[in-house]
Amino acid sequence: MMANLVTSLCCVVLAAVVVAYAQRRSQLIARNQYEQRGSDVTMQCGSLESDASVSWKVNGTDIEAQHQLNGPKLILTNVDLDHNGLYSCFQNPHGERRDTILLHVGLPPQEPKVTCRSNTYPKGFYCSWHLTQPTYIPTNFEVDVQHKHRPLDVQKDPVHKNRCHVQFPEVFSTTPYEVNVTAVNPLGKISSFFSFEESTIVKPDPPEHVTATPIRFKPRRLEVSWQSPATWPDIDAFPLKYFLRYRPLIQERWQHVELSDSTSHTILDAYAGKEYIIQLAAKDTEIGTWSDWSVAVHATPWIEDPLPITSTTEVDFPTETKTSPIPSSKAPQKAEPPVGRAGRVVTFFSPLLLGMTLLFM
Ligand SMILES: *[C@@H]1O[C@H](CO)[C@@H](O)[C@H](O)[C@H]1NC(C)=O
Ligand SMILES: *[C@@H]1O[C@H](CO)[C@@H](O)[C@H](O)[C@H]1NC(C)=O
Repeated sequence: MMANLVTSLCCVVLAAVVVAYAQRRSQLIARNQYEQRGSDVTMQCGSLESDASVSWKVNGTDIEAQHQLNGPKLILTNVDLDHNGLYSCFQNPHGERRDTILLHVGLPPQEPKVTCRSNTYPKGFYCSWHLTQPTYIPTNFEVDVQHKHRPLDVQKDPVHKNRCHVQFPEVFSTTPYEVNVTAVNPLGKISSFFSFEESTIVKPDPPEHVTATPIRFKPRRLEVSWQSPATWPDIDAFPLKYFLRYRPLIQERWQHVELSDSTSHTILDAYAGKEYIIQLAAKDTEIGTWSDWSVAVHATPWIEDPLPITSTTEVDFPTETKTSPIPSSKAPQKAEPPVGRAGRVVTFFSPLLLGMTLLFM
């Protein structure tokens, strides 16, 4: 009987302590208030009645007189980012803290820009999005992808914040995919809708491990080899074609060769001893667009060793006339016929070359 009473009493005391603690916490722990840039903001000190008198601090210092005080309300006009801060209010005359507000000034999101791309065709694709205007406050995105009115499984990218991955539910579908990206923050919510056909978003990654090596005794040749992008899952069923471009470092104009289904090519018209810059792009043989250019590699065709220098003091650099003759740069940049496994080599001549250059820049 006695024990029971003690237990009950204990419970009541404990409950009272918990309630008091919770109340105190709610006054100490800041609550967030989000407001739009340029708006007039009212901050209410807890649940105090309109006849209560309070004083406010921001970031620990007293609020300047220019701010309007209206009983337990603080009014800020035309707020901007520098109004962000920790606002606290204290009830007069004893100065107990009654509320703490973390003010976040920002903007509602604008329509996100969405793009989708498949560099792992036919496995899947990814979509990425960004906002064209900052919101200054945390903004989340919801992504919905549908095909034939069925929602598809959307995986967040582990590294890129604004990216998600989707598996193709089928291959060679002509029904468009529909992507709906919704941006949400405490000030607003807006959706962007993006629709595409499978064949238009295929864009491989650039070829990898590009090497260019001189060939001994061949002053006009460079042997170029590369590998298909490792991200491309099935090179046998979905072959790639390649686009090779090369130029001497000192010249502006590229020469181009398109190669089907081959991962090496011998440049036959290089200038002896000139440093070359070489890049490759890849594309699915049937659909999609060209990849970006691979990382540039540099190589210089083989050149005959300069004659031994007899002088013992000043070093005279041999002039180019001692080596194989160098064709004038005005000479037509005609590629020689294809050789060996380079297969179908297409050479583009001046007007076409310019067109292609512009197209793939
Ligand atoms: C409060 O402090 C934050 C961070 O230090 C600062 O960005 C903000 O402008 C300050 N707010 C005011 C009103 O002084
Ligand atoms: C996009 O998603 C949002 C949020 O789920 C939804 O409100 C909106 O209606 C969707 N828009 C379209 C065109 O499906």
